[in-house]
Amino acid sequence: MRKIDVFDTTLRDGEQSAGVNLNFEEKLEIARQLERLGVDIIEAGFPASSPGDFKSVKAIADLVKGSSVTGLSRSVQSDIDAAWEALKGGVDPRIHVFIATSPIHMTHKLRMTPDQVIENAVASVKYAAQKFPKIQWSAEDACRSDLDFLVRIIEQVIDAGASVINIPDTVGYITPKEITHIFSYLKENVPNMHKAKLSTHCHDDLGMATANSLAAIEAGADQVEGTINGIGERAGNASLEEVAVALHIRNDFYKAATGLTLKEVKRTSSLVSKLTGMVVPNNKAVVGNNAFAHESGIHQDGVLKEKTTYEIITPELVGVSSNRMVLGKHSGRHAFKDKIRELGYTATDEQINKVFKAFKELADKKKEITEDDIFALMTEEKIGAAVQYYEVDSLQVNYGTMNIPTATITMKMPDGEIVQEAATGSGSVEAIYNTLERIIASPVKLLDYRIQSITGGRDALAEVYVKVRFDGTETSGRGTAHDVLEASARAYINAVNRILNRRTRELDPVQEVKL
Ligand code: KIV
Ligand code: ZN
Repeated sequence: MRKIDVFDTTLRDGEQSAGVNLNFEEKLEIARQLERLGVDIIEAGFPASSPGDFKSVKAIADLVKGSSVTGLSRSVQSDIDAAWEALKGGVDPRIHVFIATSPIHMTHKLRMTPDQVIENAVASVKYAAQKFPKIQWSAEDACRSDLDFLVRIIEQVIDAGASVINIPDTVGYITPKEITHIFSYLKENVPNMHKAKLSTHCHDDLGMATANSLAAIEAGADQVEGTINGIGERAGNASLEEVAVALHIRNDFYKAATGLTLKEVKRTSSLVSKLTGMVVPNNKAVVGNNAFAHESGIHQDGVLKEKTTYEIITPELVGVSSNRMVLGKHSGRHAFKDKIRELGYTATDEQINKVFKAFKELADKKKEITEDDIFALMTEEKIGAAVQYYEVDSLQVNYGTMNIPTATITMKMPDGEIVQEAATGSGSVEAIYNTLERIIASPVKLLDYRIQSITGGRDALAEVYVKVRFDGTETSGRGTAHDVLEASARAYINAVNRILNRRTRELDPVQEVKL
């Protein structure tokens, strides 16, 4: 069976999605889960782009043992140096260096001639080869490049030391038939192509990223790049879970497989969705909430008689749980700890103790605690792991159809002082946000607000996602609570705390390397 390497760029291309700002702890949590999922390569970030990216790429490279960790680099020595400093502690360090090769990019963006681009690409690969045992080279906007120019440059970068050649469809322009032609052409015409692997990296602007990735695999790509849930710049990247499950289910056709542990797919998708705030559409292939729901009577009847009538993927294959009740009011700390481990979380004893307390509080209010509830409580703890500048101490809201909603909030301030404020609004959430803004004493613009329940049932946990602009910076925030108003307040304060945490990091950049 042909083995297709999976290169995950959720933490680099995925993090370039508008409005997504993962913090250090969140990136580490996602990297751990990607390792559990079994991706071959994790692109952890772009080390030269910021001290924060450098720090997280380094931490992920040092932590992850089951996947190779890589970082993006432009074709400049200082980027390659920063990438080496960040990645050298990893088990299988590799660099991902790129330069654009299409006439549009070379003329208007790089302002370089094709020969200058070749010279630059070869020099950067040679420079990287002095440090890195593995080099992946990417031809940005490859799918709009001249094929014979691609052949020339690829031959030379392979001679210079590149062992993976990535062919991105940077702007999501190509069709399956055309990408088949590109990969076949390169296979046939690059004289030393047998010395390197070909890789595909598709964007989804025309909704063809998965189809194009699969076509590239059919035509000879031995590595596929993409993100979980297909998040990424503009319309996003190819969804890795779709490609992997397509290869698995249509193995008879593709005769190729990834090494992914498919039962980790759903959990990975949920984690990425929660931490990025990018909601997975209900009808999304493989991981959407409705992906296994049979609604019409005829379909239900068919599935009851024989599942395969309408079900080509079983929910169990991708780890969709039946969301059974897992723990109850009387469950002890030991059983709880085991459940956390079983769910795949790595947590310190202190974190487990905190979440256990939250679990007990929830168990007093909610009859059945499901895996999804525990997952939500644990994620909430992880999200809150950074410094809590502001902490809501207590919240009271007066609401009635005949009076003006008023919120009263007691808050622990960054200097430890306890402050109480009240404000009104046209609704309860607005009253809360007006009060919080008054306490913070600085304008916080609410750009987006979304709410959903974690499970079904009236007693379900509520999860609120907000996007705010505070002090010139945009970020998202999330809050989970049994009550929707408390979850709303938490999400807002989480967003403000995230901005303050990021600011502190920027003022106190990583010391290990001078970028
Ligand atoms: O889409 C693209 O071209 C990229 C490269 C940097 C590999 O993400
Ligand atoms: Zn990309």
